[in-house]
Amino acid sequence: MAKTRIVTGDRPTGKLHIGHYFGSLKNRVKLQDDYEEYILVADVQALTDNFNNPEKVAKNVREIVMDNLSVGLDPEKATIYLQSMIPETAELTVFYSNLVTIARLERNPTVKTEIAQKRDIFGESVTYGFLGYPVSQAADITVLGGEIVPTGEDQKPLIEQTREIVRKFNSIYGEVLKEPQVLLSENKRIKGLDGNEKMGKSLGNAIYLSDSEEEIRKKVMTAITDPARIKKDDLGNPDVCMVAYYHNLFNKEDYEQACKECRAGQRGCVECKKKLIENINKELAPIREKRKYYEEHPEIVDKILKDGTEKARKLAKETMKEVKKAMKIDYFE
Ligand code: TRP
Repeated sequence: MAKTRIVTGDRPTGKLHIGHYFGSLKNRVKLQDDYEEYILVADVQALTDNFNNPEKVAKNVREIVMDNLSVGLDPEKATIYLQSMIPETAELTVFYSNLVTIARLERNPTVKTEIAQKRDIFGESVTYGFLGYPVSQAADITVLGGEIVPTGEDQKPLIEQTREIVRKFNSIYGEVLKEPQVLLSENKRIKGLDGNEKMGKSLGNAIYLSDSEEEIRKKVMTAITDPARIKKDDLGNPDVCMVAYYHNLFNKEDYEQACKECRAGQRGCVECKKKLIENINKELAPIREKRKYYEEHPEIVDKILKDGTEKARKLAKETMKEVKKAMKIDYFE
């Protein structure tokens, strides 16, 4: 029986960090065995809010591919591909743009939040491209016939928008498209080293999968701990401590132990941080090693991306044939 098809992806605007690792990458690795998985490097979408900084997007394309490969995505199982090399997506986006209103896009909660955060780029009036990126994301998913989209909570409104476009298309032109479903990742947002609700590149509070041992050590040493705890024998509160929070992600047993000793005033923060550094490095060591291999063999990374794109494009072409037929613009077929 054919496997269910998954489409998911990231904007190449920076290297991936442990928030991505626990939030989506680990899940992707797990899913690759049972699903037909397509992982998109969304460079066109990244340009919607980085149109004036193309170097940033270009530079991060290979970084994202390497991040995905180094955590264990196997190109024999999962297909990693590049958005800009699937021109059918752009074509489908144009057709979809008739099926969605400006008001509906402006109401999309994800877009709304992002526009508010990006006033420095857009000022008072957002670009047509950015406002419309959910339409292009709908095309990303449906042009490959994606049935399941594993993402975080923040992407849910985008998939809802995709589903609406699909229903509208099918009701006008006939049942051609599949309506995808969200698969919410169990891990929510991962907090930053500074205690911020979100780990993010622009916030400067992230631990990257590509960080060296030394970088990890330095970063963990700066992590926020219980501010009320000054001496080791003060009774600590691990619930407000980022070191405890990360212990919980990397090693549950050490987390329990750390909490117990912290509350009893038996373990100092430095000791606790050292243990965390050890645990993070243990988890990241094999990832780092794989990454190093790919960094030394850029031609292999390029080949994986090119082959993946070629495979994805075949699906896209098939979909477009059906779409054009349904829309009666297949004049010479
Ligand atoms: N919007 C996603 C993000 O910001 C990236 C993305 C683009 C995507 N196209 C997609 C995700 C299709 C899932 C499916 O991370």
